[in-house]
Formats: sequence, structure tokens, C-alpha cells
Amino acid sequence: MKDINGLISEIGVVPVIKLNNPERDAAPLAKALCAGGVPVAEVTFRAAGADKAIRLMRETCPDMLVGAGTVLTLEQVDAAFEAGAQFIVTPGFDPEIVAYCQEKGLAIYPGCTTPTDYHAALKFGLKVLKFFPAEQSGGLSKIKAMSAPFPMFKVMPTGGISLKNLKEYLSCPVICACGGSYMVTAELIDGGEWEKITELCRKSVEIVKEARANG
Ligand code: 3PG
Repeated sequence: MKDINGLISEIGVVPVIKLNNPERDAAPLAKALCAGGVPVAEVTFRAAGADKAIRLMRETCPDMLVGAGTVLTLEQVDAAFEAGAQFIVTPGFDPEIVAYCQEKGLAIYPGCTTPTDYHAALKFGLKVLKFFPAEQSGGLSKIKAMSAPFPMFKVMPTGGISLKNLKEYLSCPVICACGGSYMVTAELIDGGEWEKITELCRKSVEIVKEARANG
């Protein structure tokens, strides 16, 4: 199995995507992200047809890492897996979904923000957790406080992250990568603003480099 944690950490940012029109937008979006140096996507099941979007993105850019987000059921895990998803993200900690993904050999990033969640994650041998919703749950100061009793975890914060606070987050050694929708907003996607998306990805990549150079 590919080292998905390592690949995500190398890229440093994970676009969180909701696609209302996968047939129209999945392929150009995949190309725009890759052109900007961000060959990864978390395609959320908040929109119907997320599995279709995952399949199209993987076909368009076979080297890209494409995962499924906002996964709430085992059926969605199956649909994502069959579409070629390489990782699964859930908003909260569901032990049944975590175990199911592990059985299938799928990387799983469950949303965890409390000591109870982290405890539960320990039992599954997870190394990277999604920290969601990051800003609303206490942000960087909570992430740092949680790493004292749980130094074995790296986290992928998502929720409220933008170009303004990306560097601050990425400068913290507990953070593996940051997720966000700021480079793939509904306005940008619906407007077909692929160049602007590529540009926002490039800016993000520069910030990843700066944060790592200082760290
Ligand atoms: C997620 O699903 O991870 C978040 O909704 C993305 O949060 P953002 O829109 O604040 O970046």
C-alpha cells in the first residue's frame, strides 16, 4: 500500500471539494490542482455524485491522490473505494467505519477534537487524525494542548483555514497537512476559474515551503 500519510504530508495542503456538477467540473479541477502543485483532493459526499467525481479525477490525473470526505456510512466507503478513492475522511470518530476502512486497506482520517476521540483512535493504531472543525474547536492552541498527552498523533486540521493562517498552522510540528476549501470555493468552481484555483494552489505551496524551511 502507498504511504498515503507521507504523500499528504509532503504536499502539505488538502483541498476539500464539493462538486455539484462532476461531469462538467471534475476533470478541469483535477488538472488545475495538479498544475498548481497540489495533486491531492478530498472530495466530499456533501454533494451527490462524489464517487463519480472521484472516478473522473483519478482518470484525468492518475498520479493524483484522491480521497473521499464527509463519509458518514459504510455504503459511502464502498462507493468511494469502488470509484478509486485512496483515502477516507470522516467528520467524527466512528469506530465501525475506521475498522471497515482498515479491513479494506484504505487510509482513514477520522475527525477527532477531544481527548476521548484521541483515546479511541489510539486503539486502532492510527497515526494521523483529522482535527475538525479546527478553528471552531480551539485551533492551534487546542491542537498543541492535545499533543502533550498524545504525542503519537499528527493531525490534519480542517475548518477555518485560509492563506491567512496556513503558515501558522503548518509551522507547528504536530501538523501533517492542512485541509481547506479556500482554493476550491463554490464561486471559483461554478465560475470555471481554473487559473485562479491553480494560482491559489501555487501560493499555498509557497507557504508550505516557507513554513517547513523555518521549522
Ligand atoms: C471540511 O469539511 O473539512 C471543512 O468544511 C472545510 O472547511 P473550510 O471550508 O472552512 O475550509
